[in-house]
Amino acid sequence: MPEFLDVVRTRRTVRSYRTEPVTRQDLQELVDTAVLAPNGMNQQPWAFSVITSREVMAKVSAIVVGILRSPEVQGHMKERMREIVNAPGYEVFYGAPALIVIAADQSVPGAPVDCQLAAENLLLAAHAKGLGACYMGFLLFSAGVPEAQALLQIPEGYRMVAGAIVGHPDVRPEGPPQRSPARITWVE
Ligand SMILES: Cc1cc2nc3c(=O)[nH]c(=O)nc-3n(C[C@H](O)[C@H](O)[C@H](O)COP(=O)(O)O)c2cc1C
Repeated sequence: MPEFLDVVRTRRTVRSYRTEPVTRQDLQELVDTAVLAPNGMNQQPWAFSVITSREVMAKVSAIVVGILRSPEVQGHMKERMREIVNAPGYEVFYGAPALIVIAADQSVPGAPVDCQLAAENLLLAAHAKGLGACYMGFLLFSAGVPEAQALLQIPEGYRMVAGAIVGHPDVRPEGPPQRSPARITWVE
């Protein structure tokens, strides 16, 4: 197991996967690590859907792509992004073999924040295990679509707020995350 800071420093978003499935044990371990995240009052206001069905993922991707190609959404999209989502054959999950969706308990005001912290744990854990992952922001466009909620089996009273695809990387981006120096105000 690599050292923690090395994991943080070398994690990258992976958008190209081999077809090999991720084992149920690995997926379980990712969720087990996700729930170790700090969360308000330890209420653990999350529910996870782990999807390995290609059929379900294809259907959900089609719903999301339909939304992304709608005039309302395209109107707010940057040109580069519009080119990507309008490309023939575009699908939001990049052929990954698994998708993990995190849904927030709607009765807990801070639940969406707790779920994002869990998502980051999951992304780092995937990298530490030699898997690749990509946060699925586009998926969240379908959070209010009943058909997507049903396909992903989001429990009653929960709303999906985060998600990540996971798989064995085919191509990993080179180098560490590209970041500008953070704007810091030192108040001493
Ligand atoms: C909130 C959020 C939403 C994202 N949504 C998507 C997405 O829908 N599709 C995608 O390919 N990448 C998505 N990403 C991944 C980012 O594009 C990626 O983290 C960023 O380009 C930096 O690259 P790195 O993770 O390799 O450092 C998302 C990341 C975050 C944090």
